[in-house]
Amino acid sequence: MTAVAREALNAAEAAVPGTMREIAFVQALKDWLGGFPTRATQRLEAVLMQHPRDALAMKLVQAIHFLMGRPKEMRKSVENILPHWDGHVAQGYVLGCHAFTLEETGEYARAELQGRKGVELAPQDAWGLHAVAHVYDMTARSADGLQWLRGREASWMHCNNFRYHVWWHQALMHLDLQQFDEALALYDRDVRADKTDDYRDISNAASLLSRLELEGVNVGDRWDELADLSEKRATDGSLAFADLHYLLSLCGGERFESASRLIARMAAAKSEICESQRIIAHPGLRMAVGVQAFARGEYANAWFNLRDARADLQQIGGSHVQRDVFQRICIEAAIRGGYLDAARGMIEERSTVRGKTWDGYAERRLALLARAQAQAV
Ligand SMILES: [Fe+2]
Repeated sequence: MTAVAREALNAAEAAVPGTMREIAFVQALKDWLGGFPTRATQRLEAVLMQHPRDALAMKLVQAIHFLMGRPKEMRKSVENILPHWDGHVAQGYVLGCHAFTLEETGEYARAELQGRKGVELAPQDAWGLHAVAHVYDMTARSADGLQWLRGREASWMHCNNFRYHVWWHQALMHLDLQQFDEALALYDRDVRADKTDDYRDISNAASLLSRLELEGVNVGDRWDELADLSEKRATDGSLAFADLHYLLSLCGGERFESASRLIARMAAAKSEICESQRIIAHPGLRMAVGVQAFARGEYANAWFNLRDARADLQQIGGSHVQRDVFQRICIEAAIRGGYLDAARGMIEERSTVRGKTWDGYAERRLALLARAQAQAV
């Protein structure tokens, strides 16, 4: 969409200057295209100070902070405007946004309440519904999550490709309950209903296949179409988050030469050029090297690289649930590399972020570690 966005920017700049509010949007677009998303949010925040009911500015700020891995800022922004939506016909949608930021900042109980309230007011809002689904994932309540989503399909069936993402959440819940056939059926029927090359769709798919494989499930030839699409997108160089999911697909499809080319491109990212390149340079590159080493079975090498990237993983953006695939690969590399204490430490740390709960994944890994350590005695 970059070409379309540039065209729009050129047209806007050539036009008669509009109001201060309109100019702020044009400047924000220019900042975004120049690689300065933080500055773009500042421009839009200025709009929100004057016009707290500007829904487009609000959603753009939410989206940019989300992409940049800044949940606290995302929450602060929506909380600033929240009181201005009291009684408004679209209040439910804003509550859904707030619920998601509460969830991403670890306030799970409040997030669930706020999300449910939002959905009550705006039953068509998939974002609020999705915020509650996140709470169930992050608090190890997969069965409750499935119950929450079941029967509410009309809330997300009307959406654009976001609907694939909600199906993805449902598949993750089945995965956690070891209902692998259900997860694979959802993958084929809904998550990859259309073989699109939008990075968000590829990331849902690659992330689900990776998690299934970590659970020992044979995913057949499903990697192939993702690898084909990822080969074409590997030169984008727009977002570390996207690159890392392309890489998962390339490694999953055993396209190691293409994977190496993608990593070489990431290694050439110049951190001083712009914000997104800085994140590709670190932690993106280190994570990528670790993911490829893991796929090649070089577990110690994978662990050393992933361990370093993991400390700054938040910066690649996305949600806790989305980034969890990289946490899992890191933990798995430590287990397979024989760094059992480190693996246990990471599992415990992961649980702390998840409201001190243990999901099926954590329970299975802890049991595996206990068996390995008993055998070692
Ligand atoms: Fe999500």
